[in-house]
Amino acid sequence: MKTILVTGGAGFIGSNFIRYVFEKAGFKGRLVNLDKLTYAGNPENLSDIARKYKGRYAFVKGDICDYGLVGRLFKKHKFDAVVHFAAESHVDRSIFGPKDFVETNIHGTFSLLEAARSAWTGQGPGASAGRKDVRFHHVSTDEVYGSLGAAGKFKETTPYDPRSPYSASKASSDHLVRAYHHTYGLPVTISNCSNNYGPYHFPEKLIPLVILNAMEGKPLPVYGDGKNVRDWLYVEDHCAAIWRILNKGVPGRTYNVGGDREMKNIDVVRSVCAALEELLPSPENPALKGKNYEDLITFVKDRPGHDRRYAIDFTRIKKELGWRPSVDFNGGILRTVRWYLTNPGWVRNVKTGAYRKWLDKNYRR
Ligand code: NAD
Ligand code: DAU
Repeated sequence: MKTILVTGGAGFIGSNFIRYVFEKAGFKGRLVNLDKLTYAGNPENLSDIARKYKGRYAFVKGDICDYGLVGRLFKKHKFDAVVHFAAESHVDRSIFGPKDFVETNIHGTFSLLEAARSAWTGQGPGASAGRKDVRFHHVSTDEVYGSLGAAGKFKETTPYDPRSPYSASKASSDHLVRAYHHTYGLPVTISNCSNNYGPYHFPEKLIPLVILNAMEGKPLPVYGDGKNVRDWLYVEDHCAAIWRILNKGVPGRTYNVGGDREMKNIDVVRSVCAALEELLPSPENPALKGKNYEDLITFVKDRPGHDRRYAIDFTRIKKELGWRPSVDFNGGILRTVRWYLTNPGWVRNVKTGAYRKWLDKNYRR
């Protein structure tokens, strides 16, 4: 693979993926990161990579919904692969404002598929000769499968049953990606992954929110009864799974990716508190004012339509591609909490929005 287009590479998983590709996967080619830099996109996540791999890494500030731009990028760079992360990703935001989710997650995916069809299949507007040595990987979520009861796990054959505007928009994009394979022969793969955690996670999501609130002695909000279950995966394991699928996956195939680590939300929050007690004991943290971290746990109003339980059966990727999660949850949480404690500059910039100023300076159009 010579040139890869990564969309949404300034976000949480995308930036971890780009780091993984350059630093761990032995990639020797060029990579273009197309990102609109919404509130969730932060090029500071990759400032060291941009310096170190200058010449092989390029950042383009732009919207995946911009057909003209996406088409021009395909023409200019002759991509051999696309790894599509760009999305509106936060369920709570989709409940309060679904429009951007429909725009980016559905229309944006459509725009990328059209550009890939033109460039790769010999069909569509401005098409060139057909290519077989290319791949379009779509990064999706386990939330498309809906909510589980007390037993069972999501398989690749589980019927779709999305229940939030976020998951409905991701389900739509998955269907479009599959349709482009069946109709036009576009060589696509899809991964449906469970909840990720790790460095560079934007602090609106449960784990980074709880870490940063706890460090500052603020309440740790737990929705409802705290017994909703998620299946947690360390972000680098997800990146390794995507890389494996991109290189060895079968076109047209979907792969479920999960952490084999189902946990109730309340237990996740307690694990974060335990990791903090180990790394920054509450008596040594003046923000705690004599409390311990668990004292900060506060049950709050539930998320509307809150899915009860997710769990992933990842037998297919394990058997066919030899992937399995490598980081156990307790070790991963300790690494994650340590990362937030040792990167106060990143935390400050994200919390104060200072990275926006840095971004305006560096990426003025
Ligand atoms: P994120 O919100 O941290 O990052 C999203 C990135 O996409 C940001 O950099 C943002 O600027 C960019 N973006 C948004 N709209 C864009 C547009 N119109 N054009 C170009 N760029 C745009 O998200 P994440 O948590 O890193 O998730 C990445 C992908 O993985 C998403 O597709 C998400 O659905 C999927 N996913 C996430 C998880 C998880 O636990 N976070 C789990 C499974 C799947
Ligand atoms: O399952 C994969 C999905 O995981 C991804 O597709 C999404 O992009 C990603 O955001 C994540 O969705 P969740 O809604 O599961 O993640 P979040 O961190 O928002 O919430 C995790 C759980 O914690 C969920 O049950 C809601 C709960 N929660 C969340 C927040 C922000 C709380 O109890 N309190 C909170 O303050």
